Amino acid sequence: MSQPPSPKQAARVNIATIGRMFADGERIAMLTAYDYPTARILDDAGIPMLLVGDSLGQVMLGYDSTVRVTMAEMLHHTKAVVRGTNHALVVADMPFLSYGVTPEASLENAGQLMREGGAGAVKLEGGERSARTIETIVRAGIPVMSHIGLTPQSIHQLGGHKVQGKTREAGRRLMADALAIQEAGAFAVVLELVPEQLAAAITERLRIPTIGIGAGAGCAGQVQVVTDLLGMSADFTPKHARHYAELYRVIKAAAESYRDDVKAGTFPGPEQTTRMEDRLLDEILGRTLLDRADSMATGPGIPLDRDL
Ligand code: KIV
Repeated sequence: MSQPPSPKQAARVNIATIGRMFADGERIAMLTAYDYPTARILDDAGIPMLLVGDSLGQVMLGYDSTVRVTMAEMLHHTKAVVRGTNHALVVADMPFLSYGVTPEASLENAGQLMREGGAGAVKLEGGERSARTIETIVRAGIPVMSHIGLTPQSIHQLGGHKVQGKTREAGRRLMADALAIQEAGAFAVVLELVPEQLAAAITERLRIPTIGIGAGAGCAGQVQVVTDLLGMSADFTPKHARHYAELYRVIKAAAESYRDDVKAGTFPGPEQTTRMEDRLLDEILGRTLLDRADSMATGPGIPLDRDL
């Protein structure tokens, strides 16, 4: 007899939940997450989908592009995010060349992100060119989110972070990409840096949700890089991001105060400190009451007979 699902399993968002939200006209909020503590906060905040984006290459690891990110790094961060969530659907990015080379390797790597990483879905870049790969992975029972428009893994080919689909030909290609992805079985598609009217037209045409980033408010949902949202960079905010907090300033000010308190000797204070019975310390040090009185007289030390 099959067991009833545990409350934890029952509460987890899955692609059916996302499909229902879309059908009900509920806009879907998605954020990237790369680590356990942030994932816990975002999950508690009720963000239904968390993306372990390969943007972690730049945001968390200091690389100059997502091209450098490896499967091992994606797995490491995916596991941490999954451990930090009870509710959100965790989507793991497939890193550069982990898919699209051979069907076998694509499937193996997607499977690893699910089996070992614990993700609930994977994301990969490319429209028509990735349709066969999407089909292979979906057929194996792995939900796929696709990603078109500005696709960061092709940044060297695209020649920079530019808005995509701005000419008649490019716009038509983007629409064809979106339809091909849907046909291949993707459950959602990220539209990155696409003019808002074109993104809205693609959204109208598709039966699966579009998740926009720099693609206007007409998409079925939005995704943002969490560090952009939280204002964690001193000198960079992309045009499509809005700061909902200023964590760079908050964290820097906190670190400066801590540094000053340590210098001044005011941290740790009594609240952060544990004391022991003076008599016990005397025993540890093999010290008599007289010795202790002497050491008190000669410098800073432990107050006499203060049993805490
Ligand atoms: O890696 C990432 O963060 C992404 C988002 C920009 C959608 O793919």
